[in-house]
Amino acid sequence: MTNKMNAAWAALETLHLEVKDRQILSLFDDDTARADSFQCNTGDMLLDYSKTNIDEATKAALLHLAEVAQVSDRRDAMFEGAVINETEGRAVLHTALRNLDGDAVFVDGVDVIPEVRATLDRMSEYAETVRSSEITDVINIGIGGSDLGPAMAVQALSPYHDGPRVHFVSNVDGADVSDTLRGLDAKTTLVVVASKTFGTIETMTNARSARAWMVENGGDPSKQFAALSTSEERTTQFGIPSERVFGFEDWVGGRYSLWGPIGLSLMIGIGSRAFYSFLRGAQAMDTHFCAAEGAENMPLVHALVGIWHNQICGYTTRAVLPYDQRLGLLPAYFQQLEMESNGKSVAMDGTKLPRHSGPVVWGEPGTNGQHAFYQLIHQGTRIVPCEFMLAAQGHEPDLKHHHQLLAANCLAQSEALMRGRSMDEARAIMAAKGLLGDELERQAAHRVFEGNRPSVTLVYPKLDPFVLGQIVALYEHRVFVEGVLLGLNSFDQWGVELGKELATALEPVIAGTQSAASKDGSTRGLVDYVQRHQG
Ligand code: F6P
Repeated sequence: MTNKMNAAWAALETLHLEVKDRQILSLFDDDTARADSFQCNTGDMLLDYSKTNIDEATKAALLHLAEVAQVSDRRDAMFEGAVINETEGRAVLHTALRNLDGDAVFVDGVDVIPEVRATLDRMSEYAETVRSSEITDVINIGIGGSDLGPAMAVQALSPYHDGPRVHFVSNVDGADVSDTLRGLDAKTTLVVVASKTFGTIETMTNARSARAWMVENGGDPSKQFAALSTSEERTTQFGIPSERVFGFEDWVGGRYSLWGPIGLSLMIGIGSRAFYSFLRGAQAMDTHFCAAEGAENMPLVHALVGIWHNQICGYTTRAVLPYDQRLGLLPAYFQQLEMESNGKSVAMDGTKLPRHSGPVVWGEPGTNGQHAFYQLIHQGTRIVPCEFMLAAQGHEPDLKHHHQLLAANCLAQSEALMRGRSMDEARAIMAAKGLLGDELERQAAHRVFEGNRPSVTLVYPKLDPFVLGQIVALYEHRVFVEGVLLGLNSFDQWGVELGKELATALEPVIAGTQSAASKDGSTRGLVDYVQRHQG
């Protein structure tokens, strides 16, 4: 870490000490144009971050941090195909998958764009063939990025879905594949095995079970299986002919892979035209990210607000709260994106990080969450920065009043979090109910909202394929910027390896073909319990 970086972090910490007890609401009194100064726009999308404790001085200090961290140089390096995933020796080029009319991008001296476009063309042709065939159901078998991305997008874009039904199987728990297959016709079902490595144990176990089901029930796996993977060798070994294998390169990370072959089930569901519109939305965000300066740059600003809350203010979690029932899987998708990318302990050079890495990301659509966990967000002792999302328009014109109520709830929550309710206001409410003396004081205390709780709100006209592409790319770039500021590698995921290795070693122990003697006492006891009750 350079001295300049240390100084930039220290400046932010000093600013925080100065402003931490200030009321966010008071910032609007001091600056009547605050809402305009603390927002970012791209196309018709608006990110409002005025309901945070960030003022002009903090904004400048955050932008300075980005400058000394050379975020724009790192960004350019990523888009140009440099090997920025240094621990795996790979370029990071998911942006190339949606580069529909940009320049050539070179990896090892080869322009990758013609291959990307050829694969997209093959996917489109295949998707349209499936859509016009007798296939009634498609099952995407994958996990992590090979599941969450397409599952999230299929649900989000259901108003545009006019192809076969699309199902998702991810968990190695037999309940998942069993519940999904029940009721499907093996003769009219297509199984898409989505796995970058084609070696992930959950996916391969589910794929083999689905294949056995298809054979038993009169389907033909030699015609009704497709594969999405970087490993031609393994897809061939599994018996999937090359015309139904859609490949991609190792410079596409699993959690960034929705834009290429891993998006096939989405493409079959919504059609290639709508899928291209989804890519165009992401491409528009890429263009904005590369061109917009400083405070105009939405992913950069989004990342800086996140850094302010997580690393400077010390808020350890972040809630993603889409006011859109169809974005039900978006918090889980962003959870993987952020936590697998930025949940690290060492810097790029292997030294220990000087500050905490990324936050815990969680969430759920509103208004449902309001009746579950918002209590803690409003009155709990920990502060949870909230990220609200809202479309101005729904897809149900005859239910416009529902959407207005949804919007009112979304905007009311951020207002309530910031404004709160004072003890005097709570007393007045209790007095109006006829309470007096100690009882009034006691009841009023329970009705106080400290307020001063920060949130950002992302608004857009309507959740169509283009806008979904913009939203996902916005968060990808935000995670990238945060990773650069923290000095870590956002594109590896070594933290998932140890558990995988130990699970592989434990499987024969649970099956009783190997001894548990080398295990710790707790694990031995749990193995013993499972063996005695497994039936
Ligand atoms: O175990 C983590 C992980 O590698 C994720 O990064 C990835 O999205 C997921 O597993 C699935 O991997 P694959 O697509 O290779 O099956």
